[in-house]
Amino acid sequence: MLPPLRTPLRSVRVPAYQMDAPGLLPMHANTNLLGQNPVVAREARRAGTLEANQYPTENSEELCGALAEHHGLPRGWFLAGNGCDEVIDLLAKTFLDPGDAFAYPVPAFVMYRFYAGVNCGRAVEVPLVRDGASFRLDVEGLIATRARVIVVASPNNPTGGAFPVEDLMDLVRRAPGIVAIDEAYADFCGQNLVPETRRSPNLVVLRTFSKSYGLAGLRVGYAVAQQPVIDALRRAKPPFNVSTFSERCAARALRERGFWKKSVAALPRECRRVRAACATLGCEVFDSDANFFLMRTPRPVAAALAKRGILVRDVSAHHPSLAGCVRVTVGTPAINRRFLRALEAVL
Ligand SMILES: Cc1ncc(COP(=O)(O)O)c(C=O)c1O
Repeated sequence: MLPPLRTPLRSVRVPAYQMDAPGLLPMHANTNLLGQNPVVAREARRAGTLEANQYPTENSEELCGALAEHHGLPRGWFLAGNGCDEVIDLLAKTFLDPGDAFAYPVPAFVMYRFYAGVNCGRAVEVPLVRDGASFRLDVEGLIATRARVIVVASPNNPTGGAFPVEDLMDLVRRAPGIVAIDEAYADFCGQNLVPETRRSPNLVVLRTFSKSYGLAGLRVGYAVAQQPVIDALRRAKPPFNVSTFSERCAARALRERGFWKKSVAALPRECRRVRAACATLGCEVFDSDANFFLMRTPRPVAAALAKRGILVRDVSAHHPSLAGCVRVTVGTPAINRRFLRALEAVL
């Protein structure tokens, strides 16, 4: 007999990621569509030196050292996770007692609700305010939640735009608890709140190797915060949470910046171009500072595009403000041309 599930698991669902779609062009997952970072092939050739019979270091020492050097902050201010996802999970595990508020603006990255829920927290959703082709953060509304943890993605997923640094820092200064700014896509617009951790004891900046570095499959993300916050997060972190191979590739990707530079130059440029083309096809296109964008199409397109071999994310059901919207990840000029041809045909 199966014992009863923990209470939160009766209502929380793992979001449907639709990742198992072999052969389709994956413009639905906000990954790096320039391809995988070439450090992976290089490190794979050196795999004989991995000593995979041994565990990795407990706290990803090599990677945290490389991150400390890269950002110019102490090594103890970094915590590496199995993707940025794991760091979000750790924030909830570390700071929430059952029923405590975990707040975030909506529409948001779907995993915030999931991690609040599975950790017995109370997800408190504060709507973004529509402002022309973009969305504004309701700073007062977020502060009023009195949440122990507030998470804001900037640029935001799925809306695409970054929030002004002044608003984010206003929130950090006035919130009563931890404020995590999820900068998963920040490299695409040059936003960087990492230096702000120096003067903000409650700020946690989340970063990932899944986007601009092209390593989503290796699952490496990290948190930057002052030492007491990192020490607190480590209390809930399993040892050896980042594999030796993933850690090695991430550290190498940080030092060899060629692919990263290409990504942060090409993808925002392509994003502007594709957005403009979609607008000429009659779509309502929202602002973007990332490698993806949101648009409302005159009629549903996701299923018809899938029939033509292209996956985009239908986000209509995610939030009332997204009715009729899809989220599209941009790629190489060839990928984007194929997408635009298909969209034109579908519309
Ligand atoms: C805003 C945001 N944060 C975090 C993540 C997860 O990143 P990772 O692949 O490092 O777990 C994503 C992935 O789509 C995201 O959109």
